[in-house]
Amino acid sequence: MDTLRRPASFLTQANALLRKNICLQARLQIAVSDYTFITAMQKRNWKTNIGITFFPVIICVLLIVLQNIINSELDKPKYRCGCACVETDINGTCKRRECGVQYSTLEQVWNCAIPSPPRWPALIQVPQPESRAVKTVSQPFDDLPEPSCRDSWSCPASVLITGKDRYFAESVAGGLFPAFSPSLNVTDYLDALSRIVVGSDTAPWYTQLLEPAFSSSDTIYLLQPQCVPYLSQTISYRARGIPLQLNIQCVEGVMLWRESTSVINEELLKGYKQKGGKINEFIAGYDFLSTTEFGLGINVLYNSTYNDKTAYSFIAALRVPRLVNAVSNAYLKYIRGPGVEMRLEYVKEMPKVGTSYRFDLSSLLSALFFTWIVELLFPVSMMRCNIP
Ligand SMILES: *[C@@H]1O[C@H](CO)[C@@H](O)[C@H](O)[C@H]1NC(C)=O
Ligand SMILES: *[C@@H]1O[C@H](CO)[C@@H](O)[C@H](O)[C@H]1NC(C)=O
Ligand SMILES: *[C@@H]1O[C@H](CO)[C@@H](O)[C@H](O)[C@H]1NC(C)=O
Repeated sequence: MDTLRRPASFLTQANALLRKNICLQARLQIAVSDYTFITAMQKRNWKTNIGITFFPVIICVLLIVLQNIINSELDKPKYRCGCACVETDINGTCKRRECGVQYSTLEQVWNCAIPSPPRWPALIQVPQPESRAVKTVSQPFDDLPEPSCRDSWSCPASVLITGKDRYFAESVAGGLFPAFSPSLNVTDYLDALSRIVVGSDTAPWYTQLLEPAFSSSDTIYLLQPQCVPYLSQTISYRARGIPLQLNIQCVEGVMLWRESTSVINEELLKGYKQKGGKINEFIAGYDFLSTTEFGLGINVLYNSTYNDKTAYSFIAALRVPRLVNAVSNAYLKYIRGPGVEMRLEYVKEMPKVGTSYRFDLSSLLSALFFTWIVELLFPVSMMRCNIP
């Protein structure tokens, strides 16, 4: 017992150090003999030698060929910034070509140089006509519209509201969707659309360089307290050089009072497609909490399915800003009169330089490439050294 506890004597320490040194030398010798072994093998087997030399060359040539094929594929006009001829001479040959957002599709616009991105009115996400909330067996609230409206594609779009003070919440929510008045300046149509609440059922996109709702000539829904026939129309319009075809359709926006947030939550969830039941979608839910004329605090419940947060793709920009602006605007108008408003004029993307799709295989493969070429050809031998 006593001897074990004593610190190691000088002799023991020196002994251990010596063994370590011997072991190190042995290792070096093995490494050297390994090297001579390789050279011996190389002398013996010149065919293998040539193979070893040409393997990296072949791999490199293959990579270059593959990369060029992929790059020439990506360089096709389909993926390049869209262009058009803006000036032709008498013989019909093009004198001046112009490229830019206005000639591009959603795929092409990624590559354009855009020093001054176009601006778009902020939209809200409106459920498609066939999935808007109606009375169903699982949701027997009697203020929901009759299911027959789905056949005529005329279902109103509903917003659920709740709060501490029912009278106040309903009064404010009454102004959520301002009426479109013909006196609005319709020379700039996009500007007129940003003064009211307008929505779309297209999937939102990752950038706002082009707003899919406008560039796809899909329907644009004008949310109104009451629909009049002249509001639904098709307009061809150029917004700062970008030709647009606006298919405008009026949709009645209705507010439905619910007792509490949990009732709203449950109702939103029950109509969810993934739940397997009947699809019943709402625009959003507003919880006015304890909002009074002295203080505004609101929870907005919205559908975030479209943001695509799967870690495998870009995250889409959900159409939420207008939902927030609509309610703050309604509140301000309610407590201060119709002349007061806070406008969300437009949303737009940051400017960007022109880019092109490029594919760099070797940098993509970097570590793997090195492993293949260097390490598999010149194996690193692992040695163990046991100190007896
Ligand atoms: C048009 O074509 C004619 C004959 O092909 C040629 O002589 C003339 O220079 C052309 N005009 C222009 C503006 O290129
Ligand atoms: C309507 O909009 C156009 C273009 O933005 C502007 O030039 C014009 O002054 C506006 N008219 C009114 C009455 O606001
Ligand atoms: C949310 O949006 C997705 C995509 O449109 C839809 O499938 C789903 O039913 C919606 N959920 C609710 C609760 O509205």
